[in-house]
Amino acid sequence: MSTKSPFDDRFTKVAETDEIERGDGIAVDVNGIEVAVFNVNGEFYAISNVCAHQCAPLDKAGEQKINADDTWTDTRGGVNEDACTVSCPWHLWEWDLETGEHEASGKRIGTFDVEVADGDVYVGI
Ligand code: FES
Repeated sequence: MSTKSPFDDRFTKVAETDEIERGDGIAVDVNGIEVAVFNVNGEFYAISNVCAHQCAPLDKAGEQKINADDTWTDTRGGVNEDACTVSCPWHLWEWDLETGEHEASGKRIGTFDVEVADGDVYVGI
């Protein structure tokens, strides 16, 4: 992506705001770091896309997936807009999107600054 950031050099454009639906997230690569960007009530949050439990991709939270026998699983995990958290699609650990904390284990994953300008979402690493 070549769009020049209106913010400092840490920030990279990762999406347009309408590409991330409310209550959902996308996976992006920012300087080689796997980041998930979620839309919570119209605010955007960036967090590591690698769950600290067993490395599930958090952007898949709340999605269905197809199994080897061509059946679909129910959705697992997802964004809780009231709590501003995402539950991992594998074992439902709930990550705070502002702090990166999983309260029960005391583990924490990376969170990143997000800025929005002219309908574009930027993540600062
Ligand atoms: S891999 Fe995320 S809760 Fe297990």
